[in-house]
Amino acid sequence: MKNKIDLIGLKGIPIIQPGDNISQLILEALKSNNLALEDGDIIVIAQTIISKSNGRIRDLKSIAPSRKAIEIYKTITPIAKSIGIPVKSPELIQAILEESNEILKKEHVLITETRHGFVCANAGIDQSNVEGEYNITLLPKNPDSDANEIRKTLKKYTRKNIAIIISDSFGRPFRVGAVGVALGISGINAVLDKRGSKDLFGYELQSTIVAQVDNLASAAQLVMGEADEGLPVVIIRGYKFDFQENTSIKPILREKNSDLFRRSLSETLSEILKNRRSYKLKFDSREVDLKIIENCIELAGWAPSAHNGQFWRYIILEKGKVRNDLIVNMNSKLCQDLEKDGKTDTFIQKKIDKTRENFLESPILVLLCLDTTELEMYSDSERSSNEYILGIQSISASAIYFLLTLNSENLAACWYCAPLFSKDIVRETLKLPSSFEPMAFFTVGYPIKKIKAPARKKLNDIIYRLNNLR
Ligand SMILES: Cc1cc2nc3c(=O)[nH]c(=O)nc-3n(C[C@H](O)[C@H](O)[C@H](O)COP(=O)(O)O)c2cc1C
Repeated sequence: MKNKIDLIGLKGIPIIQPGDNISQLILEALKSNNLALEDGDIIVIAQTIISKSNGRIRDLKSIAPSRKAIEIYKTITPIAKSIGIPVKSPELIQAILEESNEILKKEHVLITETRHGFVCANAGIDQSNVEGEYNITLLPKNPDSDANEIRKTLKKYTRKNIAIIISDSFGRPFRVGAVGVALGISGINAVLDKRGSKDLFGYELQSTIVAQVDNLASAAQLVMGEADEGLPVVIIRGYKFDFQENTSIKPILREKNSDLFRRSLSETLSEILKNRRSYKLKFDSREVDLKIIENCIELAGWAPSAHNGQFWRYIILEKGKVRNDLIVNMNSKLCQDLEKDGKTDTFIQKKIDKTRENFLESPILVLLCLDTTELEMYSDSERSSNEYILGIQSISASAIYFLLTLNSENLAACWYCAPLFSKDIVRETLKLPSSFEPMAFFTVGYPIKKIKAPARKKLNDIIYRLNNLR
């Protein structure tokens, strides 16, 4: 058994131009280095020279950004600026979009799935290692077939069974720094499936699959270097592998349905919807940043509304005198109402204490009002009353958006109807315009406990089927 692997950087590969023949340049470099290929050698070739020889270069000045690219530019530019990294131009974003099947994350970088199925930053587009201020290199269109062609040409001239790996370096989640990855391969299997073999102690391995071509690409990277070292071809000698004629990088790409880190929109949405709870317990003492609340209100403004009237008005009540006065006044009205109902003093006191605790202890209290100014007026009361209902339905939609957005910020909240029962008092205490109809309170803060979801009705109980019309 061999216990040594050699990594040999091939000197003498020139700066590549479109149309250059990489196999030929490798053969010439081998000759000038006095090197001969051996059976079982693996040649790792940096993607950038394959891209350049294939002419996969674009001039950013020739790209017209689409509306989508401009929108993404507006979203990600502030993030890039805030962390002090170069801003991506709309033209570059357009190029990334054209190279991608899907955008998975929009941050200071765009994490996308490329047309080949690789998940990486900016669709693997590179602005470094290419001449010309506005030139970018794109990943090769079909790295497997490039690798295969080079392997076959080298075999023809050397009679050796070797493997080819076209490599790039990708950043990865959870760990800092880029590592080598294989984009295209020939002559070697992408993964080494060790399942079923025995470990040192005789236990059968259940799930070990070794990403051998990525490991080899990473090893070669150590010799290639990243910037201007100029050793884009590395020979790996001494690694034992089963030579295979027809191989592809595909088996290393995780199937979407077994990818724990990529969720479909519908899975994410279903999780968000099911996770939201009405939180009625004590909140954590942690302060809530008002900017987060404002951001959630901004998103709540994206709810649908009748005639796009956007009748919702949100009022943020921080802790302090105004909130105290409001709750005292609301409680005196509650007390009167309960006395009218003939409730006992103990019952009333309990209710009042609970209300005080709910609304005064909550780190943030948000009041939602319906602004009736923009509701349409009709000559008959039925249509006017329907219009009023439309207003309420619309602000309810916004309230739901608000609750879901708070939840996505890890904030807990509960919708309380109390202001509805003391509209005049709320309006007077807060000196609100007469067109504002107080509708709901939201207590907001960080939770101290996760709470269980109350049961939901069965699907058949909430769908009314029109069987009688069949
Ligand atoms: C219009 C509306 C008014 C509500 N008012 C109150 C309230 O005054 N007090 C309260 O404890 N919960 C209130 N809730 C919260 C409900 O009790 C809660 O949504 C329901 O029990 C389901 O629980 P979940 O939101 O955790 O799924 C209200 C909810 C809605 C939609």
